Amino acid sequence: MVVAPSAPKLSLQCEAIGPDTTTLRSLDWDRSRFDIEFGLRNGTTYNAFLIRGERTALVDTSHAKFRETWIPLLKEQIDPTAIDVLIVSHTEPDHSGLIGDLLDLNPDIEIVGSKVALQFLKDQVHRPFQSRAVKSGEELDLGINPDSGVQHRIEFLSAPNLHWPDTIFSFDHGSGILFTCDAFGLHYCSDEVFDRDPGAIAPDFRFYYDCLMGPNARSVLQALKRMDGLPEINTIAVGHGPLLRDHLSHWIEDYREWSGQRSKGERYAAVCYLSQYGYSDRISQAIAHGIGKAGAQVQLVDLRATDAQELTALIGDAQAVVVPTWPAEPDSDLQTSIGTLLAGLHPKQLVGVYDAFGGNDEPIDAVAAQITQQGQKQAFSPLRIKQLPQGSDYQRCEESGTDLGQFLTKEKTIAAMKSLDGDLDKALGRISGGLYVVTASQGEADSLRRSAMVASWVSQASFSPPGLTVAVAKDRAIEALMQVGDRFVLNVLRQDNHQTLLRHFLKRFPPGADRFAGINTLDDVAKGGPVLSDALAFLSCRVEQRLEGPDHWIIYAVVEQGNVADAEAATAVHHRKVGNHY
Ligand code: FEO
Repeated sequence: MVVAPSAPKLSLQCEAIGPDTTTLRSLDWDRSRFDIEFGLRNGTTYNAFLIRGERTALVDTSHAKFRETWIPLLKEQIDPTAIDVLIVSHTEPDHSGLIGDLLDLNPDIEIVGSKVALQFLKDQVHRPFQSRAVKSGEELDLGINPDSGVQHRIEFLSAPNLHWPDTIFSFDHGSGILFTCDAFGLHYCSDEVFDRDPGAIAPDFRFYYDCLMGPNARSVLQALKRMDGLPEINTIAVGHGPLLRDHLSHWIEDYREWSGQRSKGERYAAVCYLSQYGYSDRISQAIAHGIGKAGAQVQLVDLRATDAQELTALIGDAQAVVVPTWPAEPDSDLQTSIGTLLAGLHPKQLVGVYDAFGGNDEPIDAVAAQITQQGQKQAFSPLRIKQLPQGSDYQRCEESGTDLGQFLTKEKTIAAMKSLDGDLDKALGRISGGLYVVTASQGEADSLRRSAMVASWVSQASFSPPGLTVAVAKDRAIEALMQVGDRFVLNVLRQDNHQTLLRHFLKRFPPGADRFAGINTLDDVAKGGPVLSDALAFLSCRVEQRLEGPDHWIIYAVVEQGNVADAEAATAVHHRKVGNHY
């Protein structure tokens, strides 16, 4: 059943997904309204679930923006006073935004969640409620559904940090459905309830993993281990995007493989944040994502919910520590955590600080002074956020993270370059290419994000439609603007006049710097990015596919538009001697 949209680009969907189990999906088609600024390309959904045994449980609710339609839809399904239990997978407001409304309708409902989730929820709903804190292995028996005869026995699994520290998974032994909320999810809005078309959703599945789960890879592996102890799972009912059923083992193996790769080695950067405080969560994700792009290990750490012993270990073992500004008047628990953090730092670490933009933060310079007390070096310049964070702020944070990640992996990168056999290296170096500058631009005004890079690994890849591939190193800033569906411009440099542009774009730019300052561009000629006035030709391209290599993405794009400035001039060619760098 599809219910009529309540407002442009918001709609609801209600479908049976298993025995006595129904999903209520809130479809948010408008990507620009989602609050994680970086990376969302295809809208999202917020999925809730009703499980009816002898008693009835609701798993999660929805985002507050669906208040006007979600509650009536729920009432169509069930009298809210007949819901016995609300299982809260975690308390981020995109899933818990209507818990207050539900409590208004049913003050006696029992709320089941992790201990941390129940603490967070008290601060969100500001009223007493019946509750039960659960840990891994504990169960909730909803009894036997009188119609189906299926017993719905729910087993809980702790899954801290996926994506907040308060997360639990819930496995229904009666239906074989595992409810995971953020984990295994993706930001992808369509009215397809299941993962019928894996090719369509794979890029967003990967992107979501890289942003939200990758920085917690160790926690992902722990959760997978717990999942391995369950009987056969037939569906993962995620909180965002299509439910995983048709290609389930494929998605689980992706998580296992990616998290295994990210957990190799002992050295990592600890990126701290404060759940439920300002923009600290999202900014920390942008920094962590940037660090991960450079192939460095990263671990997100919630200062609010990590116990003292674990915090001491996570901070003490880290090679770099990134902290948010904290409230000027922290409560006593947070004050203790800050003390533990400061005591855990040591002089050999790199440290960085960013504005949490929480409203009443300790000034960033005061926080920076405290975390460099023992003479620690800066991981990057303090990330000051002077207004509600915009796309360009997230871009700056991500690029700062990448610079830090490159520093952390420098030795490994040099060792890899030296490891190539000399003859092979010289032979590989005989592969030559043209010289190009890729430009990309998205958003406008405060949310404008744009970038550029020199490319020479470019090749035509199809006639019909006309297409080409560009290899982009994974730690390139512009990679964020070259996701499937994005547009970019390939500027072809000319043989007789390319040195100035080459020198300019080969410079190392500080995080967030305008790559086009001092360069003549034509901004409205091509879709996707600026055209360089001194380029020989330009091609406007739309990304169709991304093939993942070990250290580069091979980006296949369809060429939509192009023009040549001088039909007589030749393309600049890049000849190399060795193949271990560009
Ligand atoms: Fe989808 Fe972490 O909330």
